[in-house]
Amino acid sequence: METVRITDVAPRDGLQNEPDPIPTAAKIRMVAHLVASGVAEVEVSSFVPARWIPQLADAADVFDGLRSLERGETVFSALVPNEKGLAKALAVNAAGDRRMIDKLAVFTAASDTFARRNTNATIPETIERFRPILATARREGLPVRGYVSCVIACPFEGPIAPERVADVCGLLLDLGVDELDLGDTIGAGTPETLTPLLEKLYQRLGAGVMRQATLHLHDTHGRAVDCVRLALEAGLRSFDGAAGGLGGCPYASTAEKRAPGNIATQTLVRTIEDAGYATHVDITELDQAAATVSR
Ligand code: HMG
Ligand code: MG
Repeated sequence: METVRITDVAPRDGLQNEPDPIPTAAKIRMVAHLVASGVAEVEVSSFVPARWIPQLADAADVFDGLRSLERGETVFSALVPNEKGLAKALAVNAAGDRRMIDKLAVFTAASDTFARRNTNATIPETIERFRPILATARREGLPVRGYVSCVIACPFEGPIAPERVADVCGLLLDLGVDELDLGDTIGAGTPETLTPLLEKLYQRLGAGVMRQATLHLHDTHGRAVDCVRLALEAGLRSFDGAAGGLGGCPYASTAEKRAPGNIATQTLVRTIEDAGYATHVDITELDQAAATVSR
């Protein structure tokens, strides 16, 4: 049976919008349960200024607290928005005798308004920021995931044309990212809107893009499951979820609407396995991961 790769982003995307401070120890327990669940990758935290995301100001402490955890093949990743964040991530890796961060993630958007609100930069400016990050990551032997937010719609600009998403994906691939991560930031996706996007990516970037891309769904209208089924049919084999359906980007919230949670990894796993693929993920550990912070 073919295996589909699962990344749990709960400790990062799941927690970044939580208003109450969550103790570092609870985050560490959450990651331990995610490792025990068998997911391929855990997105542990973000090296962003505390002013921008107060909840993740303890990123280095979370990684420090995980140093003695046996994690086998599980990949640990972290978001870095700029060279300052990269330096903080590399300091974590230099601190012990064991590398704690196996992969970096940079993030931009297919909407200029969202890019400005989320990163204080235009799309081309974010790409220029990533250039030195990619060069250093390459020297350090760290693969890089390139997120594109608002691949279906932007909370401020509305629907986003697939052509614009393909343009930004092309820029990231030219830069040398190892993986594209397609973010449906506000959970607007439906099979009707995802189909033209995947067709456009296929047409512009070639068939290989389906194996280089991860789908990152938030779940507003309960259509994320339909999108997962469609993406599997189109050839995607990598998905993000957050245990318990936690999450959302604070900079995707508007006065009327708080940004929606990620698709629950439990739902993602059941959907993928029902479609005839293996994930090797233990759902009870995902439940326990979510419970560590909801308690
Ligand atoms: P800025 O304010 O323009 O930064 O923010 P700056 O370069 O002008 O620096 C301002 C101050 O911050 C300086 O300090 C810097 O040293 C410091 P001061 O001189 O004033 O004392 N600084 C830093 N400190 C710690 N770590 C750093 C760092 N960088 C600068 N890395 C910046 C620009 C990109 C930093 C900011 O806009 C930012 O961090 N944005 C990220 C917001 C965020 O984390 N959003 C959520 C993640 S994305 C998401 O959720 C979407 C996703 O899930 C996919 C999807 O669903 O679509 C991935
Ligand atoms: Mg997200």
